[in-house]
Amino acid sequence: KRVVVLISGSGSNMVALADACAASDFPAEIVGVISDKKTAGGLAKAEARGIATFAFERKDYASKAEHEAAVLAALASLKPDIVCLAGYMRLLTAEFIRPYEGRILNIHPSLLPLFPGLHTHQRALDAGMRVSGCTVHFVTEGMDEGPVVAQSVVPVLPGDTADTLAARVLTVEHKTYPLALKLFAEGKIRMTGDGKVERDGVQ
Ligand code: GRF
Repeated sequence: KRVVVLISGSGSNMVALADACAASDFPAEIVGVISDKKTAGGLAKAEARGIATFAFERKDYASKAEHEAAVLAALASLKPDIVCLAGYMRLLTAEFIRPYEGRILNIHPSLLPLFPGLHTHQRALDAGMRVSGCTVHFVTEGMDEGPVVAQSVVPVLPGDTADTLAARVLTVEHKTYPLALKLFAEGKIRMTGDGKVERDGVQ
C-alpha cells in the first residue's frame, strides 16, 4: 500500500512510520511526505530516507482554499492508498477529506474523545487525570472526532509537567501509529459507512 504522510514539524511520528515500513514484510511503503512548513524538521529526515518531499507554505497562497488545493494536488500526484496525518497542524476541509474518507488516519496525543484540540497534556494534568495516552483515528470532517483505530495508555506520574507527559506519550505514539497502519494496510480494520470501525478480531 502506498502511504503519504503529512507533517508540520519534527516528524518523529513520520520517522516511526518510515522505520516500520522499511521492514520487508510490512504491508505499506511511504511514497511521499508533504509539509505545510518549508522549515519542518521532518522534511530532512524524510529526504535522508530517500522519500520524496513537498512543502507548501500557507503564506505563499492567497487563501486557505488555494493552499489546500496545492497540498491536495501534490497528494493526488503521489496516488496514495492511505494518507497519514502525523503532527500536521492544519484543519482539513471536507473537500480535502472526502476523496480519502475511510483511508486517512491521524494521531492525536490524548485518549479521545477526551481532550480533542490543542494543549492536550496540560489539560489532562489540569483535569487531574491519572492516565493519558494517544489515539489513532480515521479522519472525518469534524476535528479529532473520527472513529478510533488504536489507543495506548501511559501513567501520569507525580511531578509531571506538560513536557514530561508529552515525552512519555510521544514514545507510545511511535509504537501505536505503525501498529495501526499495519492493521489498516492489511485490511484487518476498516471504517464502515455509519462511521464505525470494523475489526477482524484485532484488539
Ligand atoms: C505529536 O504529539 C503528535 O501526537 C501530534 O503532533 C506532535 C508532534 O508530532 N499530532 P511529530 O513529532 O511531528 O510526529
